[in-house]
Amino acid sequence: MSAYYIDENLSIDEKNPPVNSSLSQPSAAKDSTAPRPVKRVLLVRYSQSGQLTRITEQLLAPLRQADDIEVHVETLRPRQPYPFPWTFFRFFDAFPESAHLVPPALEPLGLRGDENFDLVILPYQVWFLAPALPVTAFLKDPLAQRLLHGKPVVTLIACRNMWMLAQEKMKQLLADCGARLIDNVVLTDPSPTLVTLITTPYWLLTGRRHFPGLPAAGIDAQSIAGTARFGLALRDGLRQHAERQTAPMLHGLQACRADPRLYLSERAGTRSFYLWGKLLRAAGAPQAPQRKPLLLVYVVFLIALILSVVPLSLLLQALLRPLLKIQSAQLKQRFEMPSGAGDERMGMYEH
Ligand SMILES: Cc1cc2nc3c(=O)[nH]c(=O)nc-3n(C[C@H](O)[C@H](O)[C@H](O)COP(=O)(O)O)c2cc1C
Repeated sequence: MSAYYIDENLSIDEKNPPVNSSLSQPSAAKDSTAPRPVKRVLLVRYSQSGQLTRITEQLLAPLRQADDIEVHVETLRPRQPYPFPWTFFRFFDAFPESAHLVPPALEPLGLRGDENFDLVILPYQVWFLAPALPVTAFLKDPLAQRLLHGKPVVTLIACRNMWMLAQEKMKQLLADCGARLIDNVVLTDPSPTLVTLITTPYWLLTGRRHFPGLPAAGIDAQSIAGTARFGLALRDGLRQHAERQTAPMLHGLQACRADPRLYLSERAGTRSFYLWGKLLRAAGAPQAPQRKPLLLVYVVFLIALILSVVPLSLLLQALLRPLLKIQSAQLKQRFEMPSGAGDERMGMYEH
């Protein structure tokens, strides 16, 4: 467990420091004799259950403790908050806009857009195989485009386990802002896919992580604590101005492990969310009553799709493994870029 582990028993207010806390402390107040140039880091986040907040707190702890790094945390607040736990209809009603990257309105951010950050950290969840809507809304805001233009960005995904095509969308959103993606960290639920397809919806719809007889939903405590290694590596990288280079700062730290077996299911899901999303968006705006019957039909279709496509594609790929070896290795390499799954620097940052 890392030296920076944050007590999981903290109250939610302590886990979620004040919304939009300004640049943590002036560096002079931290150490008036420090001559090192101060690096400024922006972290933009949103979390419903607090899971992603806990993860980012682990990552931020080493940066906050460094007297030559200033951290600004911007918390996204949708004008019409998404409920947690979700109601059945509200949950599925979020898929058309998620799939089509249609942003909800956000409360004003605590930044003007002319601030200059050396590094931007962008944690996000996956919603329906796309970045969560509040994060999409941030990236589509003209203010984000001013803040991120030309800046190095580290993305950090925490989701069930299907994130590959969401990251493709994220890459496009970042490119539209003129940002440079230098690293990607991925944390996923450690349970088998078929188990998480029960435990995650149960968690999201009831707020309870434990479905009777199955492992808890969400990212395990050890992986959350281990996120501190990325904060330590970013701190060291910033001190060497590594953020100005093109090479990843988080290589060799097991930042990202892609499972190419999920690619086909993600492709089928993305296509279905896109096509049905188009139909639902034509039927009405988010939460419009005329969407409900269509949503009901779609949910039946989706459950059938999940029960057939996911196990079938996993089974077929297991049978065809020798034939698909090269293709699978190429997919793995492509989606693990830029940070990679290597572990050669783990010893430097694990306690
Ligand atoms: C509307 C919605 C859709 C989701 N879709 C996906 C998904 O497509 N793939 C995935 O791996 N996780 C999915 N998740 C799980 C989230 O990525 C995330 O793990 C969970 O919501 C907890 O995040 P939190 O920090 O906001 O509480 C979804 C969650 C929600 C609320």
